[in-house]
Amino acid sequence: MRIDILSVLPDLLNSPFNHSIVKRVQDKGLVEIFIHDLRDFSTDKHRRVDDYAFGGEAGMVMMIEPVDRAINFLTQQRIYDEIIYTSPDGEQFNQQTANKLSLSKNILILCGHYKGIDQRIRDRYITKELSIGDYVLTGGELAAAVIVDSIIRLIPGAISDETSALSDSFQDGLLAPPVYTRPAEYKGMKVPDVLLSGNFYEIEKWRLEQSLKKTKELRPDIYNDQFVD
Ligand code: ADE
Repeated sequence: MRIDILSVLPDLLNSPFNHSIVKRVQDKGLVEIFIHDLRDFSTDKHRRVDDYAFGGEAGMVMMIEPVDRAINFLTQQRIYDEIIYTSPDGEQFNQQTANKLSLSKNILILCGHYKGIDQRIRDRYITKELSIGDYVLTGGELAAAVIVDSIIRLIPGAISDETSALSDSFQDGLLAPPVYTRPAEYKGMKVPDVLLSGNFYEIEKWRLEQSLKKTKELRPDIYNDQFVD
């Protein structure tokens, strides 16, 4: 998979992709990430990429020209499965979308900034607008990092224990059950007996019960969607 990211703050994106699993997946050659500075596509002598909004709206708007040039430069070289724009008014990003995107060959992500981007870019090029939650960040870079991180760990071979991505929260529409490790007892706090029983059937049953209980308590919205009609 290849992921291209267009940003006015490329340095902000270097660190999230240079550690742990995300770095290893790149080292293994399973994914290539290219971060492009939008200012490199500006024709302005001060490398400006924003301008005042028509109509008197407060705040700056990302200009059409550098973004158009950048997207054209990239799309002339390959076909993208999705051209994503990160914005608080996009559709809410979730595990299902991460699963779908992890099957892509090429993804282009445009990080939003300022008051937003000239609407004509959205109309012409953007195939998916994604928000990572109902709050406003200073820019789309952190949202892009979240999206890329969650996609990358789903690529086959990314995580050494293949089943561990499948048992994540949300993969089966439920929150993951609690997990424990050694020691079996610490300061009087005990690991549930069933996990030490060796009885695979009982352990799976317990895990499912815990997942259902946790989802009902913490995310009634998800629970009710599936179990209440
Ligand atoms: N840019 C600013 N806030 C955002 C959000 N919540 N999701 C995606 N991009 C954003």
